Amino acid sequence: MKTLLVTGGCGFIGSNFVRQQLQTYPDVSIVNVDKLTYAGNLENLADIENDPRYRFERGDICDREFIDGVLDSAAIDSVVNFAAESHVDRSILDSGPFIQTNIVGTQVLLDASRKANISRYLQVSTDEVYGTLGEDGYFTEDTPLAPNSPYSASKTAADLLVRSYFHTYGFPAVTTRCSNNYGPYQFPEKLIPLFISNALKDEALPVYGKGNNVRDWIHVLDHCRGIDAALRNGEPGEVYNFGGNSELQNLELTFKLLDALGKPRTLIRHVEDRAGHDFRYAIDTTRVEHELGWKPQMDFETGLRSTIDWYLSNKDWAERIQSGQYRDYYETQYGKRLA
Ligand code: NAD
Ligand code: DAU
Repeated sequence: MKTLLVTGGCGFIGSNFVRQQLQTYPDVSIVNVDKLTYAGNLENLADIENDPRYRFERGDICDREFIDGVLDSAAIDSVVNFAAESHVDRSILDSGPFIQTNIVGTQVLLDASRKANISRYLQVSTDEVYGTLGEDGYFTEDTPLAPNSPYSASKTAADLLVRSYFHTYGFPAVTTRCSNNYGPYQFPEKLIPLFISNALKDEALPVYGKGNNVRDWIHVLDHCRGIDAALRNGEPGEVYNFGGNSELQNLELTFKLLDALGKPRTLIRHVEDRAGHDFRYAIDTTRVEHELGWKPQMDFETGLRSTIDWYLSNKDWAERIQSGQYRDYYETQYGKRLA
């Protein structure tokens, strides 16, 4: 039996990862540590919360005593760190929580994991650490780090701490960097779930600037398979990039969403551009294909359709998480009120 400590498992990617691990590996058990910020929703894992192989612990990755206690309470083999402040626009408004959770939280986890002598640590990072591309080219694992937003700067700082722990202490850490994820359970502040949610209410879709910025979209379950491959078969000290090979301008994507929902393009509003807006992200996945045998399996059209269908069938989920009502669910399950 392998026991994983997953942090941020109540968020978008973390909850998909926890579910996929429990479904794929009968010998895996998981302790999920999550602070339950606005982005963390216990309901995301309601279907597996009674699985005897799963345990939830509410807490902050910046709290060393708490993390030491969790690591002492179970024979943890590996740590997978998803916990983060993850939204670029929020980091532009206030970088404080990003510095705290993304950098200090990572340092606490690294120190606690090193003391607990775990066999593998995986840092879930982002392609945004590489900065921006122009019209051509791709990020590889050797692209110099050049973050442009407070969010990506905080993720880069965390990656460099991870790198330093490998070089200084021989700490068995692996880092993954991925492009834009989409799929079920994504908080409706990111482009795809926000635009679906607004379009369903016939509200405006705020496209930043001209809408010609390019993102590479990957289905969240493909990303989770990549993290799993890097966790099991990656080399300590190495970095692995994952991408979906599905580049789209934001405006092209917005047209696809509106067409699929049968909504008019008149809902589009061009609004002020994001400050320091990275123009384009795209990933060269040669390394993970050769070394981990990984390729994205979900083609974008199928993935987008199934994602739209999920949001259509779970309109109340989006409403509950946007209005903070998911707090009631925590109270029912744990008998305590979230602040
Ligand atoms: P998310 O915002 O949906 O979830 C983050 C989770 O972390 C939430 O459950 C939140 O409650 C928890 N959390 C925040 N601060 C915490 C703290 N101090 N202690 C414990 N838990 C805390 O984020 P996501 O989109 O699922 O991203 C997960 C990870 O993947 C992040 O590290 C992010 O940088 C990285 N990533 C995201 C994408 C993407 O497209 N979403 C792409 C590449 C990498
Ligand atoms: O590339 C990986 C990164 O992808 C992750 O590290 C981040 O955690 C994740 O949030 C995501 O960052 P982006 O900033 O690319 O995602 P977002 O959904 O916020 O924006 C996608 C694009 O859409 C971007 O060019 C900005 C634009 N946008 C976004 C929003 C929310 C709009 O035009 N209007 C909007 O309202």
